[in-house]
Amino acid sequence: MGDSETRRRGPKVTSSTAKLAGHVDEQPEDTDSRVISLLDVLRLLLTLVFASCLLSYYLTSGASFTFNYNPWFLNASKLSTWWSGPLLLTPAQLALYNGTDPSKPIYLAINSTIFDVTAGKHTYGPGGSYEVFAGRDATRAYVTGCFLEDRTGDLRGAEWIYIPVEDDPDEDISSGTRKLRAEKERRDAKKKVLAEVAKWEEFYRNHKKYFEVGKLVDVPEYVAEAPKLCEPAEKGRPKRKNMNAKKDKRDKKDAPGKPVQ
Ligand SMILES: *[C@@H]1O[C@H](CO)[C@@H](O)[C@H](O)[C@H]1NC(C)=O
Ligand SMILES: *[C@@H]1O[C@H](CO)[C@@H](O)[C@H](O)[C@H]1NC(C)=O
Ligand SMILES: *[C@@H]1O[C@H](CO)[C@@H](O)[C@H](O)[C@H]1NC(C)=O
Repeated sequence: MGDSETRRRGPKVTSSTAKLAGHVDEQPEDTDSRVISLLDVLRLLLTLVFASCLLSYYLTSGASFTFNYNPWFLNASKLSTWWSGPLLLTPAQLALYNGTDPSKPIYLAINSTIFDVTAGKHTYGPGGSYEVFAGRDATRAYVTGCFLEDRTGDLRGAEWIYIPVEDDPDEDISSGTRKLRAEKERRDAKKKVLAEVAKWEEFYRNHKKYFEVGKLVDVPEYVAEAPKLCEPAEKGRPKRKNMNAKKDKRDKKDAPGKPVQ
């Protein structure tokens, strides 16, 4: 049984090899020359790169192999960051990069992404106007603007800043409509919070001097009661334009004769 299978397979293999050979025979020169030219190009490129490095070394008196061109991938410290993968820090570890130790970089986190803001040490270092952001994730403060109260990544309830202050009880609106409106306002407000945080994250990501270094990990879950909206943010909440109330007044003014009729 096994024998006959081998025998049966035998000729098949031969014929397919023959076919393959025939196929190769059809355009042997083409394939060959392509391999050679690719290798040639590689050799030529390597030679050119090597020669240009030597030339640069000579022209810059040994200071640079790249004509003083220093993109991030030629920067040893950034390359090692990139090579070793994203830095993973716990909140306690991140707190050590708060700018008080000049030999350490300054890190801040927004939505758990850590950025190196050492280049802005006058802003983020001790005494800087944004020093509260250094060494921690204070995402909530980016949304509310309350640097003192909101040094936390806890965004629960931050959306209230975008929600109009308490409804006018005399407002001519059914409780069902009021409920739907409240739900819609809450949804829209949460979207605004996400957009605001994303805006700041992009700010750091696209900044010329700041760069992403890693992620904040082991952030304890926020289980305590959600923080209250800080006072300045509470005061800054939008006022609802009471359309219905205005309309009522206008209706009365516009139709003074109605009650008489
Ligand atoms: C590499 O980048 C870091 C951070 O931006 C900078 O402090 C350092 O001076 C750079 N090193 C070189 C050799 O350019
Ligand atoms: C700030 O960082 C230093 C070390 O760089 C550390 O000793 C100090 O405790 C940190 N401060 C806070 C408030 O975490
Ligand atoms: C934070 O980042 C996560 C992804 O890592 C994203 O799903 C979430 O929407 C972000 N939150 C905010 C407030 O931007």
